[in-house]
This record gives sequence, structure tokens and C-alpha cells, in this order.
Amino acid sequence: MNRENAREKIIFALDVNGLDEVEKWSDLIAAKVGMFKIGKQLFTSCGPEAVKSVQKHGGEVFLDLKYHDIPNTVAMATLQAARMGVKLANLHALGGYEMMAMTMEALDKEFKGAQRTRVLAVTILTSSTEETLRGVGIEYPVQDMVVRLAKLAKSAGVDGVVASPHEVGLIRQACGPDFLIVTPGVRPVFSSTDDQKRIMTPGEAVRQGADYLVIGRPISAAGDPAKTADMIVDEIMAVQ
Ligand code: C5P
Repeated sequence: MNRENAREKIIFALDVNGLDEVEKWSDLIAAKVGMFKIGKQLFTSCGPEAVKSVQKHGGEVFLDLKYHDIPNTVAMATLQAARMGVKLANLHALGGYEMMAMTMEALDKEFKGAQRTRVLAVTILTSSTEETLRGVGIEYPVQDMVVRLAKLAKSAGVDGVVASPHEVGLIRQACGPDFLIVTPGVRPVFSSTDDQKRIMTPGEAVRQGADYLVIGRPISAAGDPAKTADMIVDEIMAVQ
């Protein structure tokens, strides 16, 4: 894999609160990673300004707001995300087929085959266990639910999923080569595991079939974040 393709696979988790920090990180590593993930924490404190700030520095955005609501609300919210020009956005597959299908139809109607935001479904959060599922009345094993929801998302026209690195192989097999798979819980060989438990190295995750890797603290907590991002690119480039 060439350097540019490897760099594009890295999504830096911008888990910060203020625009000054957004500026700092965009400046420092926009040229070193493929995308910046803006989640509920940053979006709740700064709103669309955070997206604009990353874009102003030439960075692409994954807007990680995990929509889950009635179909029309999710469709309209996702459309607004797409109008901001984010590269990726997401919703919960547990919202159901109609919610996902209406969202994808709204995007297709507006963008008519032109390049648009790609939408990912969250299947089962990796913080959920079998016990969590039983508590809400779901009696199936987590892995069965992950595959079932990934297939449902695909059938509704959703572009891909967010998944644990350990589920990448299963999903790739069930949903085919064109379905996007984005995975957090990735730790380079040289870094600390923090609070992540079921981790995988960037090279392994890409070998399993991941298209994008969400990486936060291994880069943000490093002494030299830009150099660390380069080292992760090196690790991905080494994948056969
Ligand atoms: O710092 P770290 O690399 O652990 O950050 C990973 C990012 O991915 C964080 O923003 C975290 O919220 C997110 N994430 C995760 N595990 C999931 C889903 C999202 O770590 N299952």
C-alpha cells in the first residue's frame, strides 16, 4: 500500500472541548491523517464551528453523532450533516430499516449520484455485553446481532458500519468488499492500551479488512503526535 492510501485510513478522534484545541490539532496533524472524528462532546460544546474549523485547515470530518430517532428526524439531521460537507456521518442500526432507508433516500434525492457524505451504522456498541442486551429484551448473542444489524443496514442502502476490530472479518464476509468498515479500539504496537480492552494493531485491523481506523490517545498523548501519526502510517503501509 502506498503512503497516501495508508494515511487516508487514519481517523484522528478529536476528543476535546474547545475551538482553540480544534485549531491546535488541525494545524498539527491535518497533513498526517485522513480525517478528524468530531463526536458528541465537541459538537455539543462548539457545534458546526468545530466542523468548519477542521475543514478550514484542509481536514476531512467524520461527524460521529450516532443519530437514533424517528425516521424523518434522522433523515433531516443526516441531510444537514451532508450539507456541511462531512465525509462520514453515522446512525444507530437499532433505529430500524425505515429510519435508515429514509435517510439514504433523502441523501440520494439531494445529491443525485454526485459525491456525498457516506453514512455508517453503529450495530451494537462495544460497551454492550450479552447482559446489556438481555436487559433491554434482546436474547441473542452480541456477534449475531452485530452481523444481523450490519446486513440490515446494507439492505437499507447504508454505506458501512462502525465495528470492533474483532468483528471486521465477520462483517466483511457477510456484507462484501464494498461495504465500509470503520474501527476504533486500535493500538499501535508501540503505544499504551489506555482503557481499551479488546484491541488490535493498525496493521492487523487493516489486514482483517478495515477501511478506516479511529485512533485518539495513541496520537494525542504522544510526545510527538505528528511523528507518531507517521509511524502508524508506516505500520499500515507494511500490510501485504
Ligand atoms: O483514544 P482512543 O484511540 O481510545 O479513542 C477512540 C475513539 O473511538 C474515542 O473517540 C471513542 O469514543 C471512540 N470509540 C471507541 N470504541 C467504540 C466506539 C467508539 O473507542 N466502540
